[in-house]
Formats: sequence, structure tokens, C-alpha cells
Amino acid sequence: MGKKFVCVVAVSATVVCASAAALVIRHRSQKSSGQWAKAMAILTEFEEKCQTPVEKLRQVADDMTAEMHAGLDSEGGSKLKMLISYVDNLPTGDEKGWFYALDLGGTNFRVLRVQLGGIENRVVKKEFQEVSIPPHLMVGNSDGLFDFIAKALSDFVDSEKEDFHIPEGRQRELGFTFSFPVRQTSIASGTLIKWTKGFSIEDTVGQDIVGELTKAMERVKLDMRVSALVNDTIGTLAGGRYKNPDVIAAVILGTGTNAAYVEKVTEINKWEGLPPTSGEMVINMEWGNFHSEHLPLTEYDSALDNESLNPGEQIFEKIISGMYLGEIVRRVLLRMAEEAAFFGDVVPPKLKIPFILRTPHMSAMHHDTSPDLKVVATKMNDVLEISKTSLKTRKVIVKLCDIVATRGARLSAAGIFGILKKTGRDSVNDDNQKSVIAMDGGLFEHYGKFSGCMESSLKELLGEERSENVVVELSSDGSGIGATLLAASHSQYLENE
Ligand code: BGC
Repeated sequence: MGKKFVCVVAVSATVVCASAAALVIRHRSQKSSGQWAKAMAILTEFEEKCQTPVEKLRQVADDMTAEMHAGLDSEGGSKLKMLISYVDNLPTGDEKGWFYALDLGGTNFRVLRVQLGGIENRVVKKEFQEVSIPPHLMVGNSDGLFDFIAKALSDFVDSEKEDFHIPEGRQRELGFTFSFPVRQTSIASGTLIKWTKGFSIEDTVGQDIVGELTKAMERVKLDMRVSALVNDTIGTLAGGRYKNPDVIAAVILGTGTNAAYVEKVTEINKWEGLPPTSGEMVINMEWGNFHSEHLPLTEYDSALDNESLNPGEQIFEKIISGMYLGEIVRRVLLRMAEEAAFFGDVVPPKLKIPFILRTPHMSAMHHDTSPDLKVVATKMNDVLEISKTSLKTRKVIVKLCDIVATRGARLSAAGIFGILKKTGRDSVNDDNQKSVIAMDGGLFEHYGKFSGCMESSLKELLGEERSENVVVELSSDGSGIGATLLAASHSQYLENE
């Protein structure tokens, strides 16, 4: 009897334990399916807010065209600055000589020397060096940044070989690509309006940028003259036109974003009173600052903007460009982790670090074609220290990358369509004239799904027939060459030749 009792007790205990375990598992799985549903609800809501149906893209493009008009009409008439570049003659191919270029606009800058050989020989020789900017110099003071650049330029000049022939008694000349909003006062001077892309050096705002560089060059005893100051969009347009006469606009999709295009001087009402020109002028739109009520913005975008170095500014840039796309993905993942335990009970600490997930990481995950999405798993592990993600979780991450990239790509296409509308090149006219857009920037060059989506969206907007004659063409490194071409066509020695 005693034995039987023990046995019964033991059996009942096992049953109780087993059912308790089953309960825990059921509870866990109920909890996790509830959490999963919550995470999916966050994703779906985000996806809905990011929608860019073609009708919305047309509204965005119409607003872009309207803002372009407003910005050309009066100074401050629009969020689009529509800056006059003083480039009224694009390269012809005749440019000759030895020139330097300095390309500053992101976390790296480049120094180049180029031999231009005229119409027959074109770019005979090109040498360059890339230098990364220490992060503390991006938020320090003007002298710190410009001294660093001048020193690098001076070292590069010292490495000049004998075959780089600056004619006797001549100063070296430089095309300076400075990829921030500058109000130009001539082809080789201009004041900085504001910093973008994570730079914030307050004592430089409102200063003559060429003056700042020239003083720094003097400090390192480098005898060089800035012959042209250009935005990277202007350099890309010049470099693109040099290769292809049908280039009418340039778009940068990189760390930041912007566009430039060729405009009729008669369209620029604020140009009145300024020197006469050949009839055309390249305009630096500064489209990164574009805003429209039709932009599909979400709470993640507002939070990113509020916490940025330039709140309220560059809203278009903050949903399109390479500096921000990975960060938007991180913010959505963080919310899913915090509110729906997407990565388990503990929110992964690294996921809380702003800008830790960069757009190249996002691109690698988005392009992952392995059946088990191992690139996603590796990035999650290496960048965010999130190990053991399930395949289901990884699929959601890819989907999220797709939502963010698609919105950015389709809005960039709408921006280009807006420029084509402004210049009367959006529809099939009598001659269905060819229009080429020179593109540059790492986002466009390396994020295939982004550029592919941008091109197909542009086709969708243009229609089959017109899109046959609108070409989007990668012009990588156009901006460096473009700056040397503009330095050549504005050389101080030109008149004597
Ligand atoms: C700057 C532009 C620049 C663009 C691309 C933006 O943040 O305001 O001047 O052309 O980035 O580099």
C-alpha cells in the first residue's frame, strides 16, 4: 500500500510537472505569437506610411517643379535654394593643361591632379589620393578642418613627378569641389550657408570658403590658386557633359543628396542686376532641403530629424540619402525590440546606438540571396551583436530594408521627374529630345536595388515612349574631373594663350 502510494504520488508529480511545463511552453508560445503579431503590426504600419503610389510621386514632382519656380523667382522664396553657380559655359573638350582638384563633401576627401589634353586627347593622366577626415574635425573649428586639408594637399603636391609640367613661373590651379550649400559670389568665391551631412563647424557659416582654404594653404606654404569653387552636382554635370553632350542635369545620391541642372537665364528672376551671361546657367538646387506635404513621412523620420544636428533642415535628404537609410532601419528595429521583444526579452544594447547600422550594412542585407539569409545573420551579429536570429526574423529585416530603400528610390525618381517637367523634357515632344542625367554617389553606385528601383520608377513616371530618350548614367568621379575642367576654363592664364 505504502509503495503504491509513493508510486501514485510520484506519477501525479510527474503529471503536474509535465502539465506545468506544457503550460509554460504554451504561455511562452502564446506570448511570443502575441509579440510577433505586435512586431508585425509595427512593420505594417510603417510600410503603409511609406507608401509611394505613382499618384503620390506625381504630386511630389509637381511640388518640386513649383518650388523650383519659387526659388528662381526670389532669394528665400522656397526651401529650394536654387543657387546660381556662375557656370554658364559647360566644358567643350578643348580644356588643356595640368590642374589640381580637391573634393570635400563627406567623411573622406580626395585630392587629384589631372592632365587635360584638349579635344583629341581628353584626360591624359589622372592621379588621386583619398584621405579620411577625423570625426572631431567635422564638428570643431574652421582652422582645424582647413589646416588638415591644406596639409594633405601640400603632401600630395610634394609627390608630383617630373611628368607633371606646370609651365615655368605659373601658379598651380585648383578646382575646389565643396559639397555643401554655398551662396556663390563668383565662379571662385562664395559663402557657406550651412553645413549638412553631420558636419557642424559654426565659425565657418557665413564665411568665404575659398578664403578659408587659401589662408590654410598659406599657413602650410602651399602656393596654389582656387580657380573654380563648385558643388559636387556642378562638378558632376560638368564632367558628365564633357563625356556626353546630352547631359542636362546631375544628381548625387551618396551620403547626402542634391541635383543641379542647366536653366535658361531668362527663367532666373532673381538673377536681375547680375552680370550678363551666355543665356544659360547651371543651378545648384540643394534639393536635399526640399519639403512637400506629400512626402510620406513617419514618426521615425520626425524623431531622427529632431535628434539630428540640423533639425527641420534637409528633410528630403533625411529620407533618401545614404547617411540616413540605415539609421531609419535601426529605429524601426529598436521599436520592434522594445515594444514587441523582436530580438528576445532583452533589447540588444548596440541597437540603441544611433547611426551604428550604416546604409552599406543595410544594402548587404537587402541583397542577401542565400537561402538562409546568412548575410543578414552575420550583419546582425557583427554590427549589433544580435546572435541566433531565426530565418523568420531575418526575412522581416530584409523586408524592412526594402520598405526604406523603395521609398527613398521612388522619391528620388519623383525629384528627377520634377526637373524634367521644369525643363519641358518630361513628355514626348516633336523631336523627343534626348536627356541624360549624370549620376554620382555611393548610394546610387553600390546599392543596386536602390538604383534599380529609382530607374524603374522614373520609367513609370515618364511612360514607355518618353523613357526611351531619358537616360540615367553613372558618371563616377565626374565631380573631380569636372572641377579640373572648370578650373581650366576659368584659369587666370587663359587670356594670354
Ligand atoms: C549638400 C549638397 C551636396 C549633397 C551631395 C548635401 O548635403 O547640401 O551641397 O551636393 O549633399 O553631396
